[in-house]
Amino acid sequence: MNIVLIGFMGTGKSAVGQALAEMLHARFLDTDAELEREAGKHVAEIFAERGESAFRSSETLLLQRLANEKKPLVLSTGGGTPLRADNVRLLRKIGPIIWLTAPPATILGRVRRNLSQRPLLASHGDDPLARVQRLLKERTPYYAQVADYEFDTSNFATSSAVASYILTMLRNPVVV
Ligand code: S3P
Repeated sequence: MNIVLIGFMGTGKSAVGQALAEMLHARFLDTDAELEREAGKHVAEIFAERGESAFRSSETLLLQRLANEKKPLVLSTGGGTPLRADNVRLLRKIGPIIWLTAPPATILGRVRRNLSQRPLLASHGDDPLARVQRLLKERTPYYAQVADYEFDTSNFATSSAVASYILTMLRNPVVV
């Protein structure tokens, strides 16, 4: 089974993705980590040197490659990945799309330590909580539109607990 994780920064996509991949004996891939590996640079540097739109295009190229792979894959995406229609089409081709959420204050608590690595939250005049709230408001319709399932990760004690719950839901879908 393939699984795709989407959601805002700090909602736990990478940690939950890793736990899911272990449980499923699948390959785990984090699009940010893969793009950093390919470029030999941090995402923040890619943004600074080549701009957000070039970063977004490399995300799309990576998804095109992944959509043609046959091996089981758990894919954790960047927070902005579902904003492009091309990406959404490719994500749907890869597998069921799980949207991870968390309240803005929880998100900020999780990303606060490395704000400098988050180009969209760092170095802006407004306060980081307001920025998280504003971006979340802008993006929620995109996430909601593409997601097959939604899980609030702040309701769980560990990433493994979120992963187990997701697998139970996928294996025993509730039909209403
Ligand atoms: C981004 C989220 C980041 C990374 C880049 C842009 C976004 O990924 O792709 O900084 O637009 O929300 P994470 O969600 O994994 O932090």
